[in-house]
Amino acid sequence: MSETTMDKIVSLCKRRGFIFPSSEIYGGLASTWDYGPLGVELKRNVKQAWWRAVVHQREDMEGLDAAILMHPDVWKASGHVDGFTDALVDCKSCKKRFRADHLPGEKTKKTCPECKAVIDLEKNPPRLFNLMLKTYLGPVEEQGALTYMRPETAQGIFVNFSNVVNSRHRKIPFGIAQIGKSFRNEVTPGNFTFRTREFEQMEIEYFVNPDQAHDWYRDWVDQRFFWYQQLGVRKEKLRLREHSRDELAHYAKACTDIEYQFPFGWSELEGIANRGDFDLKQHARSSGKDLTYFDQAEGKRYLPYVIEPSGGVDRAALAFLVDAYREEEVKGSTRIVLCLHKMLAPFKVAVLPLLKKRADIVEMAKKIRNGLQNKFVVKYDDTASIGKLYRRQDEIGTVCCVTVDVQSLEDKKVTVRDRDTMEQDRIGVESLEKFLEKRVA
Ligand code: GAP
Repeated sequence: MSETTMDKIVSLCKRRGFIFPSSEIYGGLASTWDYGPLGVELKRNVKQAWWRAVVHQREDMEGLDAAILMHPDVWKASGHVDGFTDALVDCKSCKKRFRADHLPGEKTKKTCPECKAVIDLEKNPPRLFNLMLKTYLGPVEEQGALTYMRPETAQGIFVNFSNVVNSRHRKIPFGIAQIGKSFRNEVTPGNFTFRTREFEQMEIEYFVNPDQAHDWYRDWVDQRFFWYQQLGVRKEKLRLREHSRDELAHYAKACTDIEYQFPFGWSELEGIANRGDFDLKQHARSSGKDLTYFDQAEGKRYLPYVIEPSGGVDRAALAFLVDAYREEEVKGSTRIVLCLHKMLAPFKVAVLPLLKKRADIVEMAKKIRNGLQNKFVVKYDDTASIGKLYRRQDEIGTVCCVTVDVQSLEDKKVTVRDRDTMEQDRIGVESLEKFLEKRVA
């Protein structure tokens, strides 16, 4: 099998309607992407699979959808106003700006990646640059109206901790899950949708007794690692990487990244952190509200510790796409196929008429589509020959194709073709729904 490159993935995404450059007719906006008809389905399926696994299939979880805009004091308390920074240096020679920790070279004498000039960090020390995107609420752009586009969804969960405990009568351990947009003024976005300034996160804050924090941390690392594999990602393309002490974020006691081997190298899909009681303590101090929890079993009051599995929807969707991409030789030509897990495939079934000029075949095919679409995401297509239609559906990962031919009019049977094996079964129309249920649901 030939190598999967990012160029091939970007090209497929554009060609087949997964992902387009943002504002393309105006020349695009750097590192900003729009999800097209196929991409929006894939992304919704990723989020649905996550929500099902971490909220609906567990007794100990609640969901939340907090606002993107929050009180500006939230970001002071969380440490983001002072600490969410990258150290940047300007090359005096070519005037380009870089992250100091990304520059090649010696400890204080670095090399400009652009013009190869020497950057002397002693004479030209890095300056801190805050990654939060600012915005002003109301009609006047003044300091009092300043707030931020959230750089993580996590803080919306922390400030609602007491609301959820009280409204849902929750006992520890329990968690709150949230999916939503986050914004960071990344200095070096890139690698397609891997690092962008607007992205979606899937985050869990899991509140535990401090004595049990380490065990829960290990448990969540295992659970989250397994989730990607359950959805079809090849195990050898995934690995766990524990952070060293000097790498840990300001709030974390421990952190493990789940990494995927992208064409551009091993890179983070999701981080699982033990945040201790950092956030609840900070918000209690800053807001003056008591955020402690009374543990009836232990007869004491404490601030829970928090285990945080935090992943990106866009990164997960990109990993699923890269991992599912295959090029195969079939009868002397190359077949591109996306072997996406059936839960993730944008379309589950395509209904195709063998001859689009035969009104009776088209009518039967459309009737079948209408019958199936209450159950599955089904598409009807008659815009090319059957061979081309199969190839197109393979490229977008459609799990099964149902073909209606001349004989179908007589025997009321259709051909069901499997995406991965390309094997074909002749199935009676009356039992088609049951047959497909096993294959795609
Ligand atoms: N609340 C913890 C937190 O936000 P993070 O490691 O900064 O931790 C968590 O982000 C996840 O969010 C990452 O593992 C990644 O999947 C996603 N993510 C972070 N920055 C991103 C960016 N600029 N573009 C796309 N996804 C991003």
